[in-house]
Amino acid sequence: MPVRKQQKVAIVGAGRVGTALAYALLIKGPAREITLANRTSERAQAEAMDLSHGLSYVSPTRVAGGGYEMCDNADVVVLTAGAAQKEGETRLDLVRKNAEITKKIIPEVLSRSPSPILIVVTNPVDVLTYVALKESGLPASRVIGSGTVLDTARFSYSLGRHFEVDTRNVHAYIVGEHGDSEVPLWSRANIAGVPVDEYGRLRGMDVGPEFRRKMADEVRTAAYHIIERKEATYWGIGLAVTRIIEAILKNQHSVLTVSALVRDYYGISDVCLSLPSVVGQNGIEAEVTAKLADEEVEKLRDSASVIQDSLRSIGY
Ligand code: 2OP
Repeated sequence: MPVRKQQKVAIVGAGRVGTALAYALLIKGPAREITLANRTSERAQAEAMDLSHGLSYVSPTRVAGGGYEMCDNADVVVLTAGAAQKEGETRLDLVRKNAEITKKIIPEVLSRSPSPILIVVTNPVDVLTYVALKESGLPASRVIGSGTVLDTARFSYSLGRHFEVDTRNVHAYIVGEHGDSEVPLWSRANIAGVPVDEYGRLRGMDVGPEFRRKMADEVRTAAYHIIERKEATYWGIGLAVTRIIEAILKNQHSVLTVSALVRDYYGISDVCLSLPSVVGQNGIEAEVTAKLADEEVEKLRDSASVIQDSLRSIGY
């Protein structure tokens, strides 16, 4: 299928995550037009102005900021608006407030862009992806949460650093909730096709239970450590969402651990969570389902329950 000509990305929320995303997107260049929509439109206008002053140094892109009119005819709309996690809070603690915000934003977006691909980034992202799906009535393939794309990158980074291998040659996924119940898929983790256990043995490096625990902890607690020291995370998520957008706008059919509606995977249904999925110009094209280890299945089910409990707490 030909790559679409219209390549407009509207980012709702000109806070730290929205602007870090706009910056990464501008430099990476997959969009022809990047707009920022914010409750206080002056803020978005000022951010757009600042970004525009770098246009001499990137591919031709139109950048603008303002209110919801910035979502007019967008191909991809990214929701980043909402309260951010503070020190001592979990992502799930934000659910009530951010679900209300998401519910208000959806009709504003849809009245201006009837069938965009919606990418939800606001936390708790899996819960809000489900809220966005139900409130928008869009097909499930077009409502995508950033999910564990960032956690998967953190996992590859930690493993790559441990083994002294380029992060991009590490294929290891985090699935489930983007949050405390996330699940590392050790059964599928490999370096250039060589299972991590085997790779460790070949290199004479420790890959036992203690090593696994350390790697998984590092990934799960990464955001907490960053928030403790600099209040928020934004560069990593900006690049992670840029990667999702690139897969859509360039129709790359990339395998990414985005959050999406799950229908009967190991008995898990009617919840949004991350699994490796093929992402292209129509959004989610397929799930890369495979056999998981029993322990992973159990953890994934627990993770699904955590998200479902949170959804129930807000009436879904
Ligand atoms: C992150 O993982 C806080 O969800 C955000 O960086």
